[in-house]
Order: sequence, then structure tokens, then C-alpha cells
Amino acid sequence: MWTHIPILANEIADFLLLNPQGVYVDGTLGLGGHTKLFLSKLGPQARVFGFDKDPHALKMAKERVNDPRLIATHASYLQAPDVLAANGVNGVDGALFDLGLSSYQVDDPDRGFSIVRDGPLDMRFDTTQTLTAAQIVNTWGLDELERIFRDFGEEHRAAQVAHAIVTARRTAPLQTTFDLKRVAETVLGPQRGRVHPATQIFQALRIACNQELACVEQVPGVITQILKPGARAAVLTFHSLEDRLIKNRFKALAADGKWRLVNKHTVVPSRAEICQNPRARSAKLRVIERV
Ligand SMILES: C[S@@+](CC[C@H](N)C(=O)[O-])C[C@H]1O[C@@H](n2cnc3c(N)ncnc32)[C@H](O)[C@@H]1O
Repeated sequence: MWTHIPILANEIADFLLLNPQGVYVDGTLGLGGHTKLFLSKLGPQARVFGFDKDPHALKMAKERVNDPRLIATHASYLQAPDVLAANGVNGVDGALFDLGLSSYQVDDPDRGFSIVRDGPLDMRFDTTQTLTAAQIVNTWGLDELERIFRDFGEEHRAAQVAHAIVTARRTAPLQTTFDLKRVAETVLGPQRGRVHPATQIFQALRIACNQELACVEQVPGVITQILKPGARAAVLTFHSLEDRLIKNRFKALAADGKWRLVNKHTVVPSRAEICQNPRARSAKLRVIERV
């Protein structure tokens, strides 16, 4: 039974659900944790349009939410404006983008995201996509690998790790998460503290495989297309690359007076929430409102 505990769920519901009979977007449905809570607080006429790239997550979300007010689509949140238009919706009352990956995806070794569980080097959110993490490490050039480890992992030894991978794959392709971990450890050393030294390498590969930052960059554009006046969008980020992008784009939007930053500082989970769900520790919430 896979789980994902929705982060800052009540806080997000309080920020977003200003119209009990409104139409909402959950851009990253995952296992439907946030949406289930939203629907429990919304009225019978309300609707939530849920999106996820991951068809397996989407199927589980539909079963778990089990509510006709959820319209779930296997698509990127970038397609939300088109899907809403196709359903005759001109504007929504709120939208959530809970970025990154769910606990379910990390915990299932077959998805190949985990540094602690051996599995195929996959890392695709959308399992219908052809590009996998294995293809990236086994076919991309030295410079490209160095670039993603530096830009998406902020890894100081990006060049050395890229070099170690290119050398190792001459003997045999890297096929599993532990193959990659072993090669990265030849440069970064074994795990000593709580966090494995190759965590940033795994993050970088995941971001590259799913074009994550290219999507995150477009979140504010999607928000401007779908929100009604007075409506709010909430974005939960989990690392500094995502947060910086959202922070700067939100500031730029708010500069012309048509948008308002609802929270001056990011909202972060309480100590109690982090104790109960350690994966919440790096979460930061930003909320913006169309004036
Ligand atoms: C942190 S989880 C969401 C968890 C969800 N809020 C819940 O309570 O269960 C992020 C989800 O976003 C999905 N995802 C990532 N990028 C996406 C994109 N561009 N479009 C749609 N879904 C995306 C992932 O597949 C993952 O299921």
C-alpha cells in the first residue's frame, strides 16, 4: 500500500478554498492527498481538475479520492489551460502545484528514483515517455552530464562524477540505481551522515529526465492563464532551484499591481509536521492572488 502524506494540507486549503462551490486545479495530483482534503471541505457543485504525468499515480488517486467532483487527466499541468477550455471552464478559483515527486515514487524501487533501494535506472514520472535516466547516463556526452549535475544538482564535483560515469560505461552500461550510486561513490565517497553524498546526482538526473525545471518555469504562465480575479495559486517547492524560480517569477508578476503575494515570507511546515513526516522538511509554500 503506497502512501504519500500531503504537506501543509490544511494551510493550503485555508489559502485556496475561498469559494466552496468553485472550480479548482490540482496540477500535481499524486496520490490525491491534497485533493481529497479539498473535496472534503468543498460543496456539491465544486470540481477539481487533477493532472499528473504519472499514469500509475493517477489511477491510485482516482481510486482513493473516489469522488465524481474530481476530473483527473493524465497530462502535464502545462496542459491545464487546454483541458479547462475543452471542458468549458473559463477561469478557476484556485490552483495547487505541489512540485517534485511523491513518496510513492521514491519508495517503489521499480521506479528507479531511490538511492537506498536498488532498481532499474528509470526515474520517469510519465512511464509512457521514452527517455529514461539509464539512457541519459549511458548515452549523453561528458559535457552534458557535467552540465546537468552542476545546474540541476549544484554538485561541486560535477565534472569528476560525469567523467567517472563515462569511464564506467565503457566497461558495461549502468543499469540500476545501485550501479550509479557505486560509480558516484568512487568520486564522492560512501555515505557518512544522514544524506548520501550522491543525492544531488540523483536529483539532477531526475530533473533532467522529466524536464522538471522547464515545466516549473512555466507554472506562473499557466497560473496567469487559468486564475479568475480574486483566485489564488499555491506552489510547494522542495529545493532551492525550484523555489528561486517561483520566487522571482511571482515577484515579477506582483510588480505590476495585478497580482498580490499573499504571504510575504514562505510558509514552512511546523516542527510537529516535520516530526510526523520528515519528507516535509524542505518544503516551502508561496501563494499568489490575482487582484
Ligand atoms: C509531490 S507529488 C504530489 C502529491 C499530492 N499533492 C498528494 O497529496 O498526493 C508530485 C506529483 O507531481 C507529478 N508531476 C511532476 N511534474 C508534473 C507535471 N509537469 N505535470 C503533472 N504532474 C507532474 C509527479 O508525477 C507526482 O505524482
